[in-house]
Amino acid sequence: MRRLTYLLSVLSLTGPMLAATADPPPGPPGPPLYQMRERLPAGDRTATTANGQTLFSNRCGACHLLGGMGTNLLTKERMQLGESPAMGMLTNRQDLTELYVKTVVRYGKLAMPRQTRVDVTDSELDAIAKFLGKAGQ
Ligand code: HEC
Repeated sequence: MRRLTYLLSVLSLTGPMLAATADPPPGPPGPPLYQMRERLPAGDRTATTANGQTLFSNRCGACHLLGGMGTNLLTKERMQLGESPAMGMLTNRQDLTELYVKTVVRYGKLAMPRQTRVDVTDSELDAIAKFLGKAGQ
């Protein structure tokens, strides 16, 4: 009887320990979402074949994907205007025109530095502005 209680107590101790070691070891957390930018296909950047969404993710994503500093600042701005926090994502906006997007990108706006033609070519910006400019030209 004593042996049985000993065995049971050992089992009840090692049981959870064994179960715990069966789990994969906790790894480092994945990268933040704003670092998960899409890759661009190789080729001539001045006559790009990539689509607007991929270009936006790659060229603007460091600041304008979820958790990026552009998204964070714009979320605050849109909430101050009484809109939902989701409007901090440029991809959710319905009020942007192509011309507005291009102007902000080339001249910058407040905390956003202007993007040169080396950062984003005219051909790439055309596609990005078409993708974001849901309010037309
Ligand atoms: C280095 C970070 C950074 C990059 C790269 C960047 N932006 Fe921005 N963007 C910002 C920030 C920050 C703001 C908010 C500026 C403010 O209001 O202070 C902003 C604002 C904007 C706005 C204005 C939105 C409004 O409500 O007026 C547009 C449009 C915009 N960005 C488009 C783009 C596009 C398109 C790209 C890529 C070609 C891009 N941005 C790249 C940081 C960035």
